[in-house]
Amino acid sequence: MSMQLHSLKPYNTFHLDAHAQHIAVIDTAAELAAAWQESLKKQQPVLLLGEGSNILLLEDFQGTVIVNRIKGINVSESNEAWHLHVGAGENWHRLVTYSLENGFSGLENLALIPGCVGSAPIQNIGAYGVELKQVCDYVDVMNLTSGHIQRLSAEECCFGYRDSIFKHQFQDGYAIIAVGILLRKAWTPVITYGELTTLDIDTVQPRQIFDAVCRMRRSKLPDPNIVGNAGSFFKNPVVSSIVAATLKQKYPDSPVYAQADGSVKLAAGWLIEQSELKGYHIGGAAVHRQQALVLINEDDASGEDIVALAREVRHRVGEKFNVWLEPEVRFIGAYGEKNAVEVIS
Ligand code: FAD
Ligand code: EPU
Repeated sequence: MSMQLHSLKPYNTFHLDAHAQHIAVIDTAAELAAAWQESLKKQQPVLLLGEGSNILLLEDFQGTVIVNRIKGINVSESNEAWHLHVGAGENWHRLVTYSLENGFSGLENLALIPGCVGSAPIQNIGAYGVELKQVCDYVDVMNLTSGHIQRLSAEECCFGYRDSIFKHQFQDGYAIIAVGILLRKAWTPVITYGELTTLDIDTVQPRQIFDAVCRMRRSKLPDPNIVGNAGSFFKNPVVSSIVAATLKQKYPDSPVYAQADGSVKLAAGWLIEQSELKGYHIGGAAVHRQQALVLINEDDASGEDIVALAREVRHRVGEKFNVWLEPEVRFIGAYGEKNAVEVIS
């Protein structure tokens, strides 16, 4: 375990220059528990991080940031499936490429999503028609106070759209230390989204889906290594079928996605674009021109710039459509997470 007293700039993909009192980069669950206990003794708050690709640092963090780098991919085989037990600190995209290289299919739609494997269950990462919940077998979670490690089945994780038990009962005082992934040998391609619909269901190979997903993502989403961002800043709003029908009547072009439970998902990027906010900026923060759902650190933005921009976006979209966007990104204050909706209301 290494202790440093430095900037959090390398640890958040918005590249905001907030600081922490301590940064502990941990390689094992035991080190994680020790770092937590140490902070508890000093009565300091703790922030757990993977790759910081879904956080907005509002200010300096008055405590210890624990960066999870627990590594390891162990593979076992049953008649029907490949079973992968993956350390929480492994890079997600590396897991996707590792799987494909070894002939295990099922993760190709989730290529190029930044962040760690251990963070993937928290918001049930999803893209191009697939969500983590479809490939998740279990999640190993450590109770940081007792050190006890518990295995939650995928069902127990209560996965929903950008949601899971790790944003509720298992949020505070718990750390995800490993994730079990189950990839069935009988592969079913998912080619229902965007450019993927042009692929031939009878001949398509996982690698083609992987390549198409990478191409689509690279054409819209800014590379965080070049332009600071945290992906979609807001969640796509889920509304009743009545609200969606009213919107569709007034704006026949608005994309709407019917959900299994009868509700309807709207496209926040479309709502933001229609509010004429593409390219709009406040201070160093801007709405990305290729994908309006992404807020970017265009020019040395502060956390306050990004908050002010998010507030403006929420208000403009709310006033025009009476749909009130909620951040997907987690807002981190001096002592821990803050309610993001309250911050930008
Ligand atoms: P972090 O940002 O480090 O942490 C996120 C939250 O989880 C924080 O609250 C943190 O405290 C908590 N946390 C971190 N590690 C642990 C742990 N081990 N145990 C418990 N809590 C922990 N997301 C999608 O779903 N689909 C996409 O297509 C997508 N595209 C993106 C594209 C770009 C360019 C970017 C920058 C982001 C994108 N995202 C997407 C969001 C992001 O990739 C995911 O949310 C990812 O899972 C975050 O991983 P991370 O390791 O960076 O998490
Ligand atoms: N759209 C616009 N203008 C824009 C952006 C989007 O009109 O500026 C329209 C598109 O034309 C399309 C619809 O909105 O009709 C949806 O756009 P897109 O396919 O780009 O996806 P998204 O809904 O904006 C979601 C996820 C992404 C994920 C993609 C692909 C959320 C909040 N975001 O974005 O996840 O990669 O679908 O599946 O659900 C993330 O969570 O960080 C993330 C990037």
